[in-house]
Amino acid sequence: MAEESSELEGPDFEKGVETETVTDGEMLLGHAFGEAVLVARRGDNLFGIGATCTHYGGPLAKGLMVDCTVRCPWHHARFDLRTGEAIAAPALNDVACYNIEKRGNRFFVTGKIDKKPARTPATAPASIVIVGAGAAGGAAAETLRREGYGGPVTMIGADEFLPYDRPNLSKDYLAGNAPEEWIPLRPSEFYRDQRIDALTNTSVTAINSKTKQVTLSDGRSLGYGALLLTTGAEPVRLKIPGDDLPHVCYLRTLSDSRRIIEKAKNAKRAVVIGASFIGLEVAWSLRERKLEVHVVGKHSLPLEKILGRDLGTLVLQTHEAHGVKFHLGRTPAKVEVASASQPISDRQDADSTIIVQLDDGTKLDCDLVVVGIGVRPNTKLAEETGLAIDNGVLVNEYLETNVPGIFAAGDIARWPDPRAGRIRVEHWVVAQRQGQTAARNMLGAHEPFVVPPFFWSNHFDLHVHYVGHGNSDDRTSVSGDLKAKNVSVIFRSGDKLTAVASVGRDRENLQAEVALERGEDFRAS
Ligand SMILES: Cc1cc2nc3c(=O)[nH]c(=O)nc-3n(C[C@H](O)[C@H](O)[C@H](O)COP(=O)(O)OP(=O)(O)OC[C@H]3O[C@@H](n4cnc5c(N)ncnc54)[C@H](O)[C@@H]3O)c2cc1C
Ligand code: FES
Repeated sequence: MAEESSELEGPDFEKGVETETVTDGEMLLGHAFGEAVLVARRGDNLFGIGATCTHYGGPLAKGLMVDCTVRCPWHHARFDLRTGEAIAAPALNDVACYNIEKRGNRFFVTGKIDKKPARTPATAPASIVIVGAGAAGGAAAETLRREGYGGPVTMIGADEFLPYDRPNLSKDYLAGNAPEEWIPLRPSEFYRDQRIDALTNTSVTAINSKTKQVTLSDGRSLGYGALLLTTGAEPVRLKIPGDDLPHVCYLRTLSDSRRIIEKAKNAKRAVVIGASFIGLEVAWSLRERKLEVHVVGKHSLPLEKILGRDLGTLVLQTHEAHGVKFHLGRTPAKVEVASASQPISDRQDADSTIIVQLDDGTKLDCDLVVVGIGVRPNTKLAEETGLAIDNGVLVNEYLETNVPGIFAAGDIARWPDPRAGRIRVEHWVVAQRQGQTAARNMLGAHEPFVVPPFFWSNHFDLHVHYVGHGNSDDRTSVSGDLKAKNVSVIFRSGDKLTAVASVGRDRENLQAEVALERGEDFRAS
């Protein structure tokens, strides 16, 4: 993700600007003390905050002001205009807050100011255990401290790494455009300073909800006052002959992505099995690495069920224009080493060429196979704990399971969305936000999770933003110019707006988010 230009734009707020330049409900980009500053007006109040999103550097001035917040156009993070606080993921760090002085008919930005309120939780469990250290787990752990919880917090993760930027693993990191330093969400010192006991390489093997104890893979047990389950999902595995060849890779973890990168260094051709978001992002990234890429997809059009026919076609054409070759309506039948005469013991030679044979007999030579055919929620532990499960862990609007004191968030949680009914999604922003909401609810906030789901996906120069939760049988209408990659596709069930997918219309996607929240209809420009 490219950072915005660091050149300062707009007026110098230190020198003063006429107050009427900023009208009620509007924002103005300028600068002060060498930094980009956003001034916003609500009634007679003026607010000044840093203008650059702390997630990937999105330009907040191009976002949307809603009440006393601004939403980032790139991935919908939210900041409080009064304090600069990052109040909704994916941004985790606050932006600066500036003092504004009115003198006559002008206002001046006079310096930075800390307006963050000290918070005290309504209730404080004796201790909190978070199972899983990914998007939801990491966001929950930090939220507990932000909310003023002072008790013990233990975050237990089976992964060898502390929480990291998983979406980047199929995008710029895999493409070679993002260094590994960008991948951890926080340095290890952060957890130490926040007094979060963050365990890696450790699984929770059992939860006893009666004695309120968890058992860890290293044999220890740990008591909890409240518990959050965020065990995420794992890739669905191929089940065909040759699926165990060392050339066959999956992508969920940082180690997986590193493994693909290592293999891609010596590879000329790759076959991606699955034309899903992850499969297609892998195809894009491997093309960036100059590999010849073939994608095998079982449907006749990639992503049609989620994005609809028009955007599905645009995604397909974009990939084709960049040289990706598609084999649609096909499934893989077997994977084998290229030379039939090669003894089976050589199967471990990861450098040998292999062949992916499709169900119609087509043979695709390649050096690397990446499988992206969906994920399954990790609900085994929840099931063994006796939690209610039905395509995910069932939670109420406060993200609490049927066992009081045990909450669930992220890819495993199936919650009652106020618009779409009970759903489970696999989106980064949803997982982080559910972690944040669950954390507050473990502290007695009683806050329902009501924000519309949001995800993004990148394919070469095509950046898709999707807000809401549509169904494959929703009616779609297209507004804009598909060819120019400036378009929104609006999904409706009957007359009810269910989702909007946008390309090149980031602000419009934010407006659609507000319409969904308010139960209003939405008209694209
Ligand atoms: C390559 C890739 C790209 C993606 N890109 C996007 C994107 O562009 N946009 C988007 O919206 N979403 C994207 N996603 C999806 C997004 O990353 C997930 O929805 C999100 O990570 C889910 O968060 P989570 O906390 O529920 O699970 P995870 O982030 O998977 O974290 C769960 C953690 O729990 C740990 N765990 C599991 N069982 C146990 C146990 N018993 N004990 C201890 N720890 C355990 C796991 O090791 C894991 O670290 C992508 C996913 C992948 C894999
Ligand atoms: S850059 Fe702002 S939310 Fe991602």
